[in-house]
Amino acid sequence: SSEALAPDAVHHSPTLPVFDAARLAAEVLKRRNWAIISHPDAGKTTLTEKLLLYGGAIQEAGDVKARRSARHATSDWMEIEKERGISISSTALTFPYDGFQMNLLDTPGHQDFSEDTYRTLAAADNAVMLVDGAKGLEPQTRKLFEVVRMRQLPIFTFVNKMDRPALEPLEIIDQLEREFGLKSYPVNWPIGSGDRFVGVYHRPTKRVHLFERAARSARARGGTRSTEYALDDPALAELVEADLWAQTREEIELIEELGEELDMARLGEELDMARVRSGQLTPMFFGSAMSNFGVQLFLETFIGLASPPGAHRTRDERAVEPASEHFSGLVFKLQANMDARHRDKVAFIRVCSGRFEKGMKVRVARTGRTVALARPQRMFAQERETVLDGVAGDVIGLNNPGAFAIGDTLHTGPPLAFPAIPCFSPELFAYLRCTPGQKKAFLKGLEGLLGEGAVQVLHSTDDFQTDPILAAVGALQFEVVQARMKSEYGVDTTLDPLPYSLARWAMGGWEGVASAGRLFNALAARDQWGRPVLLFRNEYALSSLAPEAAAALGELAPYALP
Ligand code: G4P
Repeated sequence: SSEALAPDAVHHSPTLPVFDAARLAAEVLKRRNWAIISHPDAGKTTLTEKLLLYGGAIQEAGDVKARRSARHATSDWMEIEKERGISISSTALTFPYDGFQMNLLDTPGHQDFSEDTYRTLAAADNAVMLVDGAKGLEPQTRKLFEVVRMRQLPIFTFVNKMDRPALEPLEIIDQLEREFGLKSYPVNWPIGSGDRFVGVYHRPTKRVHLFERAARSARARGGTRSTEYALDDPALAELVEADLWAQTREEIELIEELGEELDMARLGEELDMARVRSGQLTPMFFGSAMSNFGVQLFLETFIGLASPPGAHRTRDERAVEPASEHFSGLVFKLQANMDARHRDKVAFIRVCSGRFEKGMKVRVARTGRTVALARPQRMFAQERETVLDGVAGDVIGLNNPGAFAIGDTLHTGPPLAFPAIPCFSPELFAYLRCTPGQKKAFLKGLEGLLGEGAVQVLHSTDDFQTDPILAAVGALQFEVVQARMKSEYGVDTTLDPLPYSLARWAMGGWEGVASAGRLFNALAARDQWGRPVLLFRNEYALSSLAPEAAAALGELAPYALP
């Protein structure tokens, strides 16, 4: 399979207009692909809903939540998800806005499925960090930020819930700088907070936007309106309480100065987009998703600043341009059992280059097999619709009869493969044991789930421990494995938790492990590719490794590429 996929193997739908290179490039430039990262409860669902409302994809706020619960009620998802009322799925929502196609990658809210979120970020071009204005940075925000930084995605910050008593905006800016070394460029500045949150000052246009408090019903229809004023409009003195206005004027002066001190570039031609694109500088917004304050302003500015789909690097460091003639895509998520009646499995791909067409034949780089991409789907405001075509930046769900694994490259034209998606550092470990007599089905099930990337599996180097060790980021991942073992493979399993919470790949290899001698407080295991992983109880155990042992083991990496 080293030669190119023959052009005649590429299916061209007679009903689709033919794209020349220029048309393809123009389509790509209209795409804005992004994911929201946040700690649960920061307001991701609420913000998503408001954005869909602007895109006209839904009629009424509350629709997304209503559908989410309707989905549970009609029970087309796994039992666990129904019981807990949480969303395990992670797909993409598409909506049009102002001539652009917005592809919002939906990340699971529950932190036990953060591994899915991490992978979703492998398909994202931009990240929006949603922060609860009263709480500032929270644990899940921190973890996700690390992944975003590793992927070098541009980061936009939306400070939400400004209609409630909030931290001082400068305190949040300071947190970002102190903890992440991330500089902020406030694009808008809040005028007051809590009950006194009356509007924002939009720095690029030097305009003040005062919000009209709308009744809840009008708000739900996207009816919150704002009126614009010039910064020096005398009317503002009448409209905003005197002390608040004086304070805001002071703050605005301060951030302008601060900008110079921090060597912050200015927005537009002045904002240093290279630093935004490399994730060193974050454009920052303040608002309230619930009251619909500042959401549209955010969306409009975001569209202008966010990166359109760019080139992807292959494993051998070649750049694949999004508007190139050959199609390529990356499988970043697999999902099983979305519908219990159909037992369907869906593979989600992000289109990286060329044009995707329904029914086209592609090669799977890992296996060399040629597969026809039938039944492609896209989530449009959480309703599935069949897609006919797509370009770079789009996310498409494919029926997966077992042909695809996480991290697979699909392509037409000459062979190419994108780098693998890293395995994220597991924090929970347990032996998985099956009922005697079910070993064969157990191993088959394990292989299936492993192949899908549903869980990581390790093996103890202790010869007497032959049971596999499941390694996960969250406890619900274990439950999903057990539930699927039962429902799909008919195997009853038990979990035997292990007292470790940290995994580190020993880059010195097995030789290093051998010469490190006996390790106290750590379990040596091999991962599914046969590489040494050390499991530690906690940070303390890791830091108390004897210096000679640490030297022998080499770098201890928290992530490993397959
Ligand atoms: P998540 O998806 O990030 O977990 O958060 P979600 O949108 O579900 O919001 C969590 C809670 O925060 C919800 O309240 C929501 O209404 C509230 N919220 C979201 N944005 C804002 C905001 O801008 N201002 C204020 N004051 N609250 C906000 P809830 O009581 O859990 O649910 P609900 O009864 O309001 O639906």
